[in-house]
Amino acid sequence: MCGIVAYIGPREAYPVLMKGLHRLEYRGYDSAGICLLNGDIRVFKCKGKVSDLEAFVAGENISGNIGMAHTRWATHGEPNTINAHPHFSQNKTIALIHNGIIENYSVLRSELKNRGYTFTSETDTEVLVHLIEDIMTNEQVSVEEAVRIALNQVIGAYAIVILAKEFPNKIIAARKGSPMVIGIGKDEFFVASDATPLIEYTDNVVYLNDEEIAIIERDKELKIKTIRNQDQTPYIEKLVMSLNEIEKGGFDHFMLKEIYEQPRSIFDSMRGRLHLDQGTVTLGGISDYVQKILKAKRIIITACGTSWHAGLVGEYLIEDLARIPVEVEYSSEFRYRNPVLSEDDVVIAISQSGETADTLAAIDLAKSKGATVLGICNVVGSSIARATNAGVYTHAGPEIGVASTKAFTAQVAVLTLLGLLLAQKKGTLPASKFQKILVELDSIPSKVERILKLNEKIRDIATIYKDVKNSLYLGRGYNFPVALEGALKLKEISYIHAEGYPAAEMKHGPIALIDEFMPVVFIATRRGIYDKVITNIEEVKARKGKIIAIVTEGDESVKKLADHCIEIPDTEEMLIPLLATVPLQLLSYHIAVMRNCNVDQPRNLAKSVTVE
Ligand code: AGP
Ligand code: GLU
Repeated sequence: MCGIVAYIGPREAYPVLMKGLHRLEYRGYDSAGICLLNGDIRVFKCKGKVSDLEAFVAGENISGNIGMAHTRWATHGEPNTINAHPHFSQNKTIALIHNGIIENYSVLRSELKNRGYTFTSETDTEVLVHLIEDIMTNEQVSVEEAVRIALNQVIGAYAIVILAKEFPNKIIAARKGSPMVIGIGKDEFFVASDATPLIEYTDNVVYLNDEEIAIIERDKELKIKTIRNQDQTPYIEKLVMSLNEIEKGGFDHFMLKEIYEQPRSIFDSMRGRLHLDQGTVTLGGISDYVQKILKAKRIIITACGTSWHAGLVGEYLIEDLARIPVEVEYSSEFRYRNPVLSEDDVVIAISQSGETADTLAAIDLAKSKGATVLGICNVVGSSIARATNAGVYTHAGPEIGVASTKAFTAQVAVLTLLGLLLAQKKGTLPASKFQKILVELDSIPSKVERILKLNEKIRDIATIYKDVKNSLYLGRGYNFPVALEGALKLKEISYIHAEGYPAAEMKHGPIALIDEFMPVVFIATRRGIYDKVITNIEEVKARKGKIIAIVTEGDESVKKLADHCIEIPDTEEMLIPLLATVPLQLLSYHIAVMRNCNVDQPRNLAKSVTVE
């Protein structure tokens, strides 16, 4: 999610806030807004870049030494001026900015509407500022107490800042699940999503903890309390990171940061959709189309690159779970090969950027033939999101590294939810099996966390193979798309030629390539047709190939054959792609770094291929 920044102190707030927004630009966003409290609350916001906001504000008299600003990465509601933050309460005396997702916003919205509140935006955020107003009015409490009471009604993630007209010397900030840091100057305070906007003013910081509220008042000590009304002593730390380090969250590259974000991004892709307690799956964005999909003659998934690999996992999942025929098409081929399409088909376009030209063209073709077209995108309001009849956002947050990592696992998580939803509706999965998979799916973020702890071991393996010229990635079943994705990761950031194959396909040609200089990466987890993979490993070993194997924790059989084993937690076979992909991302990352490649911007590549 994007960025927030706020200031109270002796300086003019505008330059501090605007510069702070520029510092947060690296986080990716689609719109921005700023607000100054100087007698009245003045809000300026618009779609586009921070420079567009600057131009929008130019010439306005915006003085004042308390204010806040926001860069939005939309989750609910198109990126446009109305949906941009800050959002006003109905009586225009409170303004709020928010990073995160309010899961129960629709319930809160209906309750507030019943209480006479009208909404101007489509965002989830707006419910919060109306709720705070409602509490302040009806319970006659301070703004910080109203915020505290309101946050006890909110389910979801938030980093919020609130300004209230009747409290012109006070900033209220709170967080849960989204980041927030408070900078403490001699006689001034800063609030931001990370330290980049405040690093030039102070190195005294307090990292707010989940469910904490900061009450920041001019000329007073910082006060912190929990949403359960317990006072907390602020823990002031010295900021030691450089600006460049902060932008990457302390990681050397955006790609590594995004690999490490996957426990959170996979969780966010399922947030409000996987309901373990009720044993259900909901995908609100396509709820009107579920029957259409269930009745479809077939589902055609169209995508490019890594998104195509996610689509291949989707084919295996949906056919396995819901028994609906699925085909996966490269958008660039699909759009030109004059495919047979009809209104009985449902086409699902998968795209991180939502701007890939070939996939957009494939969508147009499908629509022209009367097919229903749905989207799975990571960018709200992107061209593909707007071109499809409906869709599901992956909520992975901005992916800055050109090599897709967290977007892939988020796409696979959404496709898994879709397969489960369809299976439940069709009754093709016993309830006990369905529940078992849900429980496993819910544990995936923590299992990814465990895999990330293997980073050093994986880096050691990378050291051995960083100078190879070729490599093969082999997997079977659900692990075949993982092999393809692992190979793509290596070739696109390290420039080493790598090919993914179904493991059994090796004997139909690629085995001729095997010699002592060829590392072969096997995804050899103990689920599925595991014994056959063992045979394939033995075939490679007999030809002196070097074997790197992704195995299930505790595996002893592959360990006897492989040169290197990377052990990942066990899980349901259909969920292995969510885990097995992670060590392959790290392997490629370290090899590319050791080869001094430009990991975040590999040569010849763009983050979004908006041309043919
Ligand atoms: C994957 O690492 C590449 N960046 C590339 O293959 C990418 O997946 C492809 O261009 C599709 O992009 P999209 O998901 O934004 O449509
Ligand atoms: N969910 C909020 C919205 O869509 C905040 C998004 C963000 O974190 O930027 O406006």
